[in-house]
Amino acid sequence: MKNIVLFGGAFDPIHNGHINMALEASTQLDADIFFIPAKISVWKSESAPIEDKIKMVELAIKDHPGLHLSRFEADSKEEVNYSIDTVKHFKKGYPDSNIYYLIGTDHVNSFHKWKDAKELSKLAKIAYFKRPDMVVDLNNVKEFEMVEIIGELKDESSTEIRELKSLDTPNCVIDYIINNKLYFMKRIASYMGEKRLEHTISTAKLSYEIALANNLKDAKKALIAALLHDIGKEMPIAEQKEIMANHFKKYIDYPPVIYHQFIGAYLVEKDFGITDPVILEAIKYHTTANSNMSDVAIIVHCADKIEPTRGFKSENLINGLKSSLIDGFVEVLKSNIEYYVKHGIDYKNELQMACLDQYLK
Ligand SMILES: [Fe+2]
Ligand SMILES: [Fe+2]
Repeated sequence: MKNIVLFGGAFDPIHNGHINMALEASTQLDADIFFIPAKISVWKSESAPIEDKIKMVELAIKDHPGLHLSRFEADSKEEVNYSIDTVKHFKKGYPDSNIYYLIGTDHVNSFHKWKDAKELSKLAKIAYFKRPDMVVDLNNVKEFEMVEIIGELKDESSTEIRELKSLDTPNCVIDYIINNKLYFMKRIASYMGEKRLEHTISTAKLSYEIALANNLKDAKKALIAALLHDIGKEMPIAEQKEIMANHFKKYIDYPPVIYHQFIGAYLVEKDFGITDPVILEAIKYHTTANSNMSDVAIIVHCADKIEPTRGFKSENLINGLKSSLIDGFVEVLKSNIEYYVKHGIDYKNELQMACLDQYLK
């Protein structure tokens, strides 16, 4: 390797912004990139264990031959990892390579306070990503001979992923978070038992598949809404009733089994701070459906009814939704009615009827 870029960070979790930064640096500096996850990030209570963070980096970079993972800091016995030690380690391992050390714009201005900053900048070239919203201290740039990397840095953040406000990370990382109950998934699991969690995950995966098959711009919103759709379901009914009385009085005479769609939307806003109207609407009408539904709401409604763990043959309905969302939706509505009639379920509430009037006419 002629040129090597060291890219340290919490990667808690890794996201598309990190990947884009690495690819950009790789192109501009003609370099191989090493992601070096840091062992601890004590300032974050919702942090994932280091082995999970490493696994997510591995998954995210597996299709990019120029991107690599280093366990140097993760495996270090030292309590605190200083960049100078990491750089020395690589200098020893790759004596003939030019080494760059990548930092964020926010670190440019405080770089002189880093341990052995001068020596560090001699052993490695300090490269930084210029963020348009930040003023860079040119004295530091000059003194430490820093190199600027030009590129459009999107504003994703790991925090937003941990809080389920964004899922802008490769799909394999999303799967890993869901399957291993990290971050938001741990929180979602605290609202429900095992069985419902299994249904939730299955609904979410199917929602996302249907959204992608339909080239939906809002595909990630379908995934987020489906992950959250049933968080109100296991709240004691007396508590649900109280929230209904205070916030959804109009629907208080609906069968109590329907309450949880409103409670879910309420909790998502209150507990998760998610205010996206598309996501909230999809949760709020996932059981009854409604008229004039967004694509995301249609998907979550359908996936909830026909996801594979429900235990009936729904393959044709799923395929129908994937090839044409609205045609598939009509088929799901027909199958819903069949089910309601067969089981003597009263489905003729105002919301459900508004939906049927519009889409089955
Ligand atoms: Fe539900
Ligand atoms: Fe559900």
